[in-house]
This record gives sequence, C-alpha cells and structure tokens, in this order.
Amino acid sequence: MNNLIDSYNRVHNYLRISLTDSCNFRCIYCMPNEKMQCLPYGELMNPEEIFSISEIFTKYQIDKIRLTGGEPLVRRDFAEIVKKLSNLPVELNLTTNGVLLHKYVDLLKDTGLHTINISIDSLQEEKFKFLTKRNVLAQVWDNILLYINRGFHVKINTVIMKNINDDEINDFISLTENYPIQVRFIEFMPFSGNQWEKNKVITMSEMLNIIDSHFIYEKIQDNNHDTTKKFKVKGYEGTFAFITTMSQPFCQGCNRMRITADGKMKNCLFGKDEFDILTTLRKGEDIEPIIQSFLKNKHKKMGGQFENFIKLNPEYLKNRSMIKIGG
Ligand code: GTP
Ligand code: 5AD
Ligand code: SF4
Repeated sequence: MNNLIDSYNRVHNYLRISLTDSCNFRCIYCMPNEKMQCLPYGELMNPEEIFSISEIFTKYQIDKIRLTGGEPLVRRDFAEIVKKLSNLPVELNLTTNGVLLHKYVDLLKDTGLHTINISIDSLQEEKFKFLTKRNVLAQVWDNILLYINRGFHVKINTVIMKNINDDEINDFISLTENYPIQVRFIEFMPFSGNQWEKNKVITMSEMLNIIDSHFIYEKIQDNNHDTTKKFKVKGYEGTFAFITTMSQPFCQGCNRMRITADGKMKNCLFGKDEFDILTTLRKGEDIEPIIQSFLKNKHKKMGGQFENFIKLNPEYLKNRSMIKIGG
C-alpha cells in the first residue's frame, strides 16, 4: 500500500484542505496589507473536485482531513462539501473564526465532525475589534459556548502578539478552569504581507514566565505529530498549549499535506513547492502521478534545518500570505 512518506521518514496522514481564500474578518496578523484579490468561484475547487481529490488521498493513508480557509464557512456550498466528505473513512475537522458557526451546528453534529478549532484572539471587545476589524466578539463567544454545550471538542486558537494581547494570556488560561477546552497560544509567524517583525513575537518560554506567577500547572504528554506542546493547570477541566513555530519548530513530526483553495498541493507551510492538481483534474487526467512525484522528490519539504529555519532561510518570509495557503 502507498504511504506518503518523505526522506525523513515522516508519514503524511493529515490533509489540510483550504476551501477558500476569502474571509469575513481582516485579522492584522493574517491579511496582506494591500487590498486582497480573492479567487473567483470558478477557480476554487468545487464540491465534487474536493471530494475526488480527498478520495484519492485516502488511498495514500490520509485518515484526517481539516477544512481551513480563509474562512471556510463563507462558502455557500459548505454544507454540501461537508456532507460529501463525511462519506470518506477519515476524521473530519474544521478550523474557523467561529462567527458563522451557529448556522451549522446540526449539520456538523449529524456528520460526526467532533473537533472544531476556533480562533479568538482577544476576550476584550475593543481589542477583538482592533485585531479582526469586526465587532463580533459576542457572536463568536456565544458560538464557542454553543459548541461546548452540544458536546463538540473545542480548541481555541489565539495568536499572541507582544504588547497587543499578551496581557490576556492568563485570562485565556482561566477559561480552562470550567470549560473542557484546549486553549492554544500560537507564536506569531511571518507570511507575505503580514508585517511580521521579530520583536512582535512572544515565545512559549516568555509566555510561561507570565503564566508561572499565576498558575500551578503540569506538562502533559505530547503526541509526536501535534503542532502543540500541552500543559494543564492542576484541577482545571481544560488544557492549554503552545504552537511554537518560531522558538521550537516541530517539523520533525510533521504529518501534514496541504491543498490550497485553487487546488495546489503544498507539502509545507513554509515551502515553495506547489503541485497543481486541480488543473490536471480538470483536464480529465489522473492526479496520482503528481502525488507520486511528491514521493520521488521527497526532500522538498522543510526537514534538515529544524532549528531556526527562518533565521537560516530568510526567503521563507516571502511565502504566500497565510490566507492564500490555509494555515
Ligand atoms: P489539530 O488537528 O487540532 O492539532 O489542529 P492543528 O494545530 O493541526 O490545526 P489548526 O488549523 O488549528 O492550526 C493551528 C495553528 O497551527 C495555525 O497557526 C496553523 O498555521 C499552525 N500550523 C498548522 N499546521 C502547521 C505546520 O505544518 N507547521 C507550522 N509551523 N504550523 C502549523
Ligand atoms: N501566525 C500564527 N498563526 C496564524 N494564523 C493566521 N495567521 C497567523 C500567523 N501569522 C492562525 C489563525 C488560525 C489558524 C488557521 O492560523 O489564528 O487559528
Ligand atoms: Fe480570516 Fe483566519 Fe486570516 Fe483571520 S486568520 S483574516 S479569520 S483567514
């Protein structure tokens, strides 16, 4: 049987599919500064194409699919896509900014999509508005509560930026006292147009210094493939975690393959290589040779220089913007 294995023996069983490069928020850490041109609908993979591509990937032992964006819920055919994908033998997951989630709670419950990662970068109305350019904190928070109450496993994604929302780290951890959620603090990453600067990054160890004076916590066992390093405050229901791309990259355990909204296979968030599978599919040709070519060019994924890769390779800063990759 074919596995997607690379030269570092990393098995790729997790496929992240971006459904769109458009978004109803304008987060400062994500959007390029200039006015963004979104892809016209016809250039996005349609529901049948998303299903066909995913089905082929399941032959290569992909057993986890995450739908990302832009914001995946802005697609009017989102329900159709989820219904189709729920027929595949994969664990289906979703990453969203949460503001439209109330519309899909029954659908997602019925299709067995258990885990939802919701971005929320501030618990303060004014700051949330500053970060996202949208005044919808209450709606996002209500939706988080709705999904917790309906029994979903909710993870909260919070990008922490120095002197912007680092004063809220302890407030986010306090949420884990009574809610069975995982709060994940993400180190600010550089992408084209997002005005990344080293002095805006706050690392896991700096965040732990802030947390140390407020909470007694313990380390939890990490899974080799996780993006996170996990912790738990003693006696609290939920957990907290860090996504340490900048201070401790986790490329060693990377099991992720990506498809951009315009149907390009991308094997690394910070990689330049893209394989155009949608054009091939639309010509009625087989996409498997493209997947096979990934297997042949095994080393074209971040691998050797696991530490300080951005320092060593400043060209990675010229990557696509986050919204064009899908996180
Ligand atoms: P789980 O499946 O719940 O573990 O979620 P996830 O962390 O894989 O996905 P999510 O969409 O919630 O992403 C959270 C953060 O991790 C985002 O900032 C992503 O950009 C980042 N992330 C996801 N995959 C990778 C990766 O391969 N490399 C790096 N450096 N960051 C990643
Ligand atoms: N650095 C870190 N995380 C980011 N995200 C978007 N842009 C960045 C960035 N520059 C996160 C979002 C979302 C996930 C898909 O990626 O907050 O949770
Ligand atoms: Fe939209 Fe997500 Fe980017 Fe924010 S991080 S602008 S919610 S795609």
